[in-house]
Amino acid sequence: MTKRQHAKALALACLFALAAATQVSAEDARGRELLNALGCKACHQLEGSGGALGPALDGVGQRLGAEQINKQITEPASANPSTMMPSYAHIPEEDLKALVDFLATLK
Ligand code: HEC
Repeated sequence: MTKRQHAKALALACLFALAAATQVSAEDARGRELLNALGCKACHQLEGSGGALGPALDGVGQRLGAEQINKQITEPASANPSTMMPSYAHIPEEDLKALVDFLATLK
């Protein structure tokens, strides 16, 4: 590789890294926005803010996989028939996905 090609490859690699980082933080922001907008934080804490009716969501991605998180959000009564958590099965598919993806990254 010539010096010039090398510089070009390096610049491209930086661009890709930047694009990937931007993508992640946009998803992250959407997940946080939904947690607030859907009222999850009335019952759940995240990073020290929120209610205490449910368990804190910090590290939830370590306790539950994406499938389980999805199930908890859409059919909370399946895990606990007398749960206080309402079902969010009615929210748009892409919001559900963003929320589940975000929660699954909390490790
Ligand atoms: C009215 C209170 C309430 C609201 C609102 C609520 N939850 Fe929950 N949630 C609970 C309770 C209580 C539990 C504990 C398990 C149970 O009793 O079902 C729980 C459990 C969970 C769990 C499993 C946590 C773990 O560590 O096992 C997840 C994930 C979760 N909720 C996500 C959400 C999300 C996302 C929202 C908003 C879309 C939400 N909850 C809204 C009360 C609530």
